[in-house]
Amino acid sequence: MSFLYRGSEGLLIEEQILGRRMIVKRRRLHRFLHPTLSQLLLRRRTLTEARLLETMRLHGIRVPVLYDYDHRTLYLEFIEGSHLSTSSAPISFYQLGQMIAKLHNLELTHGDLNPANILIEDRTDQIVLLDPSMGSVRADLITQAHDLLGFVRGIGGFENRTECRARFERGYLAKCRTERPWILCQELEQRGRNKH
Ligand SMILES: Nc1ncnc2c1ncn2[C@@H]1O[C@H](COP(=O)(O)OP(=O)(O)OP(=O)(O)O)[C@@H](O)[C@H]1O
Ligand SMILES: [Mg+2]
Repeated sequence: MSFLYRGSEGLLIEEQILGRRMIVKRRRLHRFLHPTLSQLLLRRRTLTEARLLETMRLHGIRVPVLYDYDHRTLYLEFIEGSHLSTSSAPISFYQLGQMIAKLHNLELTHGDLNPANILIEDRTDQIVLLDPSMGSVRADLITQAHDLLGFVRGIGGFENRTECRARFERGYLAKCRTERPWILCQELEQRGRNKH
């Protein structure tokens, strides 16, 4: 067993279970919330993550395999890889754009598309989405736009952000059923800029 990461909501531990390398993601109660509310939140986040991971996998979107779960714990496939921001692999932002379009075509959102929630698998150079605990099913276009906004803000610190964004945009627009979320995302960005 080795400690991997203390996230904002819980612990991630790498463990060997039944001969498989897994990540055990266990959420903890919030210290500053009423215990009942905290338990509800913890359960909701965990079950949302489980549901979205299973739905995405079913539709061929690469996410860690979910081996088991309960109301606060997920048992996930361990992915050997690195984050989008630090990976030295040749990353196809075009393909990532297509992947997110596919997600949105299914009316699903990820909810937190920052580069720490996108891994590039060492063995295959495949893009793997992690942590959809804030995502939704039957997501409307504005929720989809917020997904895109999270992504474009997340790559804001990348050296080659303009190129990454352009490739992502081309991929997204090539695959999406409607361009509205991308248009709305640009409007939200513009509104954000006007405020400053
Ligand atoms: N299945 C996995 N395989 C390998 N590494 C993983 C896996 N799941 C998570 N990680 C690593 O642990 C980190 C945190 O995971 P995750 O985003 O699921 O937890 P979190 O508690 O929501 O964290 P945060 O609050 O920072 O979003 C990831 O950025 C990644 O580096
Ligand atoms: Mg995360």
